[in-house]
Amino acid sequence: MKVIILKVFVCTCRDTINLPKDLNFGDGIDVEKFSNLCSDDGIKRVAEVVEKGEKVVIAGCSPRIADRYFGEFNPEYVNIREQVAHIGHSPEKINSLINGAIQKLRNSEDIEEMKFEIKERSVLVIGGGVAGLEAARQIANSGIKVYLIEKKPFLGGVVGTLDRLYPKGTPNSHNLYSLINDIAKNENIEVITNSELEKVGGEFGNYNVLIRVRGNVIEDCDLCGRCEEVCPVEVEDHGLMRKAIYYMPTYPDNYGIDFDSCTKCGKCLDVCNKLSLGEKERILNVGAIVVATGLKQYDVEKVKGYGYKKLRNVFTHWDFERKFASGEINPGKVVIIHCAGSRDDNHLAYCSRICCFLGLKEAKLIKDVSPETDVTVCYIDMRSYGVFDELYETLRRNHGVKFINGRPAEILENGNKLKVRTEDILLGKPIELDADCVILSTGFVPDAETFEKLNIKCNGEFPTAYVNSILSDDSNPHGVYICGSAAFPKGVSETISEARDIAMSIVNLLNNDSIKLKTPIARINGKICGAIDCRICVDTCPYGAVYLNEDGEVGVNESICMGCGICTATCASGANQLYGFDDRGILAQVEATINEGDIAAFLCKWSSYNAADNIAYKGLNYPENVKIMRIPCTGRIDAQTILKAFSSGAKSVLIAGCPPDACHYNTGNFKARKRVIALREMLGQFNIDPERLRIEWIGNQEAERLVRILNEMNK
Ligand code: FES
Repeated sequence: MKVIILKVFVCTCRDTINLPKDLNFGDGIDVEKFSNLCSDDGIKRVAEVVEKGEKVVIAGCSPRIADRYFGEFNPEYVNIREQVAHIGHSPEKINSLINGAIQKLRNSEDIEEMKFEIKERSVLVIGGGVAGLEAARQIANSGIKVYLIEKKPFLGGVVGTLDRLYPKGTPNSHNLYSLINDIAKNENIEVITNSELEKVGGEFGNYNVLIRVRGNVIEDCDLCGRCEEVCPVEVEDHGLMRKAIYYMPTYPDNYGIDFDSCTKCGKCLDVCNKLSLGEKERILNVGAIVVATGLKQYDVEKVKGYGYKKLRNVFTHWDFERKFASGEINPGKVVIIHCAGSRDDNHLAYCSRICCFLGLKEAKLIKDVSPETDVTVCYIDMRSYGVFDELYETLRRNHGVKFINGRPAEILENGNKLKVRTEDILLGKPIELDADCVILSTGFVPDAETFEKLNIKCNGEFPTAYVNSILSDDSNPHGVYICGSAAFPKGVSETISEARDIAMSIVNLLNNDSIKLKTPIARINGKICGAIDCRICVDTCPYGAVYLNEDGEVGVNESICMGCGICTATCASGANQLYGFDDRGILAQVEATINEGDIAAFLCKWSSYNAADNIAYKGLNYPENVKIMRIPCTGRIDAQTILKAFSSGAKSVLIAGCPPDACHYNTGNFKARKRVIALREMLGQFNIDPERLRIEWIGNQEAERLVRILNEMNK
């Protein structure tokens, strides 16, 4: 059996903690006392011990503070200041808490240090819209090579097709052209248009990416336009007609083929020998990936009552803007409908955040060009704020735009015109509005094809938010960044600041030779897992880190495992273990900590654990028999841990985590709740009153509520 040498450092935090008379944890366990362990001498001493291969328990202040000084040593913390001394509990309690930590360390697998070598100091940016362009520009300006791939023949994305940008109605050329020129002249950026991601292998610092490139960029295109003349394929491109081969004044400066529409008839080849319809594969080696694939309009044809594509002159805002700016239409009476297909359980249940602004922008565009046009906006709530609210007020007061609070039910043909049937909530009655043209301000969905190829998990339509962890923590080497509207619809200025943040994070990471990480990671014992073969854990990971390999075996992508332990708690065989919080370790901690009549409190380190600390800072208190164990997420606590607490003598068990929808790992708290509800159903079989088991959502400021719950549980 492996001999584990353990040292316990006990700090009295400048003599503010009374220790028990006897701090003896048995043979082979040294105890060293300090009055100020976070001093230089104390930190040096802990480092010396860890270097010799010993595991350490640090008993002192809250891990919230201690982690600043000792995080790299992966100690097991025991909070004897905020959770014993400062709340007036007896020093004797310290012994059981330290003993629990010792048993946990003794029985846990070591958290191994992972090292990600940065072999490729280059970045793949997927998407040539504003988000991808800005991220590419910033990264390349820092001297890092960028491959910018775009599936269309030109850069510019959605913004490149629009006329104006809100809130002022600034023409897109103000922002886009200089950005594109910076990209075009930057020697660190290789732009590859008409190209798509096919497959990705590797991990942070060393990805190999297969892309498919269709057609070619014509280096010396003289823009004669004969290819476009002979092309027989007419394409409707957001309100305007064009050919399958066309020119767009962004980049590159040549005619380009829209391969999604091209029939490969070859007519263009007859008039130009510089063109190619072929395709090739290419492998790119990169250290990090930015996904800036943008968004698509919701298919508003599905909203039957609005007659999109059936009724002439019913447009989306995108179609309208392009038709109006090109002079194709000039209506005298316009109705703009906000939330067309949004905030509707039959379509998009969510608010896409930018469609109110887009509707207002179209109203401004109309009034700028044609002040006499009658414009009415129908809305459910006006979700404008800051400068956008100014735009709303300006339109209302200075431009005579009418606003009607109500969601239109249908649009009908009325001769050559349209009739919009709606309710006016303020008048409290149905009304009808005549219109020459109706603009549907639709919501958005992501352009999600790339997500699957990168195994990016979505929460609904959009990717699981990584912001809790990745974007705010450069030490996590997750090499795939989701940028701009690919993460959720956003406007240009917000997109640009996000692209800059992401570029900065990537540059900081890639400027290292390697990234070391000591964080709990789930590991799979293939022999045990293979014998059961349930694969349940694969679907439970919120990040897609647990996967099935080509042989059907379960594996963990270490570079994206966030250490929540949700998959470990779902594993029925014990094959999946979160090192540092493995089954044996947690069970041993529970057994050593919990005495007859105690309350076992498993508190999530991101939320409720901090609420417990706040109890001390607020001068409050809770019963002395409450024993708190710090966990990465409530999603890690499984039935056997709860039953172990009861069999060790707990009078009740509390599992407390982040508020609903705010779990640091996305859904761990909901998964924990389901598990607890199911277990409560079965507790009767063990002669345990289900009321003795509770799960609660407790934010870190909710100290008073935690006190109340703990007192209730002690009755
Ligand atoms: Fe707090 Fe999941 S991280 S409950």
